[in-house]
Amino acid sequence: MKKEQLEELKDKCNNCYKCELGKTRNNIVFSDGEPESAKAILIGEAPGENEDKTGTPFVGRAGKLLNEFLEKAGISRAEDLYIINTVKCRPPQNRVPTDEEKALCSEFLLKQIEIVNPNVLIFCGATALKSFYPKKTPISKIRGEVLELEIGGKTRKCMPIFHPSYLLRYHSLEEGSPRDLMLKDLKKIKSML
Ligand code: URA
Repeated sequence: MKKEQLEELKDKCNNCYKCELGKTRNNIVFSDGEPESAKAILIGEAPGENEDKTGTPFVGRAGKLLNEFLEKAGISRAEDLYIINTVKCRPPQNRVPTDEEKALCSEFLLKQIEIVNPNVLIFCGATALKSFYPKKTPISKIRGEVLELEIGGKTRKCMPIFHPSYLLRYHSLEEGSPRDLMLKDLKKIKSML
């Protein structure tokens, strides 16, 4: 059962102090969603303040905006998605996680992908994209494309999308605006689930 394997991994993560983030976290932020029914994994960057307090990913302002977009695209956060981050502990002042922190945390990330084994991986923002995609293509150039990448010994369909924090700065819904593109990308993902 996926749930049992993930619980075991979560226990291990709870006891992890391999990097400095383990010293300052209040909670690890392991996942949200239903691993048995999830058809996609959405990978964000790192927990923020609200996530660190609650232990749940994407519950702050960015998370609320993400929820709105998911609903508009007809994707159920609770049933269709398993939501995680590249690192499981909050970086101080919400800075971007370092390469070392990401590398030390990658055993949890890769194992989560392997266990849930979804149809699609969604790279939500540049940090998630960079964790798996070797080229330096900016997210604005590659978002919405379906990439086939070798991850955890398997070729997997992956799609980069904008991070909702970025969308908090752009309110336009005009054709070609970041919010318009985000909705189009999520609708494309919906068709792949
Ligand atoms: N931003 C992220 O990338 N992940 C979260 O869990 C919250 C905000």
